[in-house]
Amino acid sequence: MNVGIDKIGFFTSDYYIDMVDLAHARGDDPNKYLKGIGQQQQAVIPPTQDVVTLAANAADQILSEDDKDAVDMVIFGTETGVDNSKSAAIYVQSLLGISNNARSFEIKQACYGGTAGIQMALDHIALYPDSKVLVLAADVARYGLKTPGEVTQGGGAVAMLLSANPHLLRLDGQSAFHSENIMDFWRPFYKREAIVDGHYSTDVYINFFKTTFEDYCEKYQRTLTDFSALVFHIPFTKMGLKALRTVISDDAHGQKLLSEFELSKQYNAQVGNLYTGSLYLSLLSLLAKATDLKAGDRIGLFSYGSGAQGEFYSATIADELDRDALANQVEPRLAQRTKLTIPEYETLYSTGLPTDGGNVTFDKSHDTGRFILAGRQDDKLVYEDTKKS
Ligand code: CAA
Repeated sequence: MNVGIDKIGFFTSDYYIDMVDLAHARGDDPNKYLKGIGQQQQAVIPPTQDVVTLAANAADQILSEDDKDAVDMVIFGTETGVDNSKSAAIYVQSLLGISNNARSFEIKQACYGGTAGIQMALDHIALYPDSKVLVLAADVARYGLKTPGEVTQGGGAVAMLLSANPHLLRLDGQSAFHSENIMDFWRPFYKREAIVDGHYSTDVYINFFKTTFEDYCEKYQRTLTDFSALVFHIPFTKMGLKALRTVISDDAHGQKLLSEFELSKQYNAQVGNLYTGSLYLSLLSLLAKATDLKAGDRIGLFSYGSGAQGEFYSATIADELDRDALANQVEPRLAQRTKLTIPEYETLYSTGLPTDGGNVTFDKSHDTGRFILAGRQDDKLVYEDTKKS
């Protein structure tokens, strides 16, 4: 039986900053950000959006009423959960009107949660072929103002509907994974910003990529030429490029993989890091932009979650791609965003839910999302569906 990704949707906030502006404000050469890091713009997430609303808005782009009835599992991968107990999945299920006859839960392993969800969905649908699984991958990447990680922030959500006989990608069921107890990036309970050993994290990422890719090739007797493209978890676009360069040579196939990579990073360069969603935004970028990819082509996907878990797995393009529809998931949203000045971004960055409790009501008049975080009352998050309110 074929199981895989049938539909994929995306959402990010209404605001972004330009990396040239950020470089000037921080006294850095813009080329460090544009070329050395590989980022052009960065999504800025206002207090009226959190992972619940980002993911609900992303899923709203793709789910039909029939899908909502058929979904019997909602898996939410995030490191930016909104509650220490209740999963973000339950909120999204309710906001979207997904059937209550579903298992809904959250998975955490830094940027790997979305991939864990996909692998779990694969097993579930293999057992129950009529079921559909909604996998949500959403995060708000924060390192702190004026830190080295600041240029690699961002945020947004990717929503994926998995089913039997998918239209987009068939999962091969072939995968290699590796985990180790490593302190390269983590976030203690009391902090909104991640702690990161930046250069160490990039070394670990590359080692995990090489380990899992070699293991995959040995397990399934494959070589690089079996892949029409490789897509990566992209915390910043140069990271994926560094990993790709460790396995390609200067031949025609290496050049093809390089040019596919260029296409796979386009959206990420404008959004920044969305942790668990980054790999899948890159996949969306590739599928929307790589005009030479066709049904039957195999893609390799490398997922990495600091701490650390790596996985390399493969999938095959199912039907001929509707590139316009895929681009439509992302490009209109990016085009309508408002550019913030750096002082405006710094102000927005420092607002949010009070960390010591208390009621708050946010000004939601500038948020164009259908689903919005209106505030918090009596320790309960207040979400609104603007179509209903
Ligand atoms: N023109 C062109 N390039 C320039 C330049 C200029 N004027 N100035 C510097 N550069 C280049 C540097 O040569 C360097 O390139 P290489 O890496 O290819 O050598 C690049 O710009 C970055 O320069 P630095 O290494 O000096 O930058 P930095 O010390 O400020 O830190 C960083 C960069 C480590 C990525 C930092 O931004 C960071 O800590 N980011 C967060 C951590 C991260 O994203 N890690 C990725 C792996 S972990 C993961 O994937 C999980 C996750 O999502 C977090």
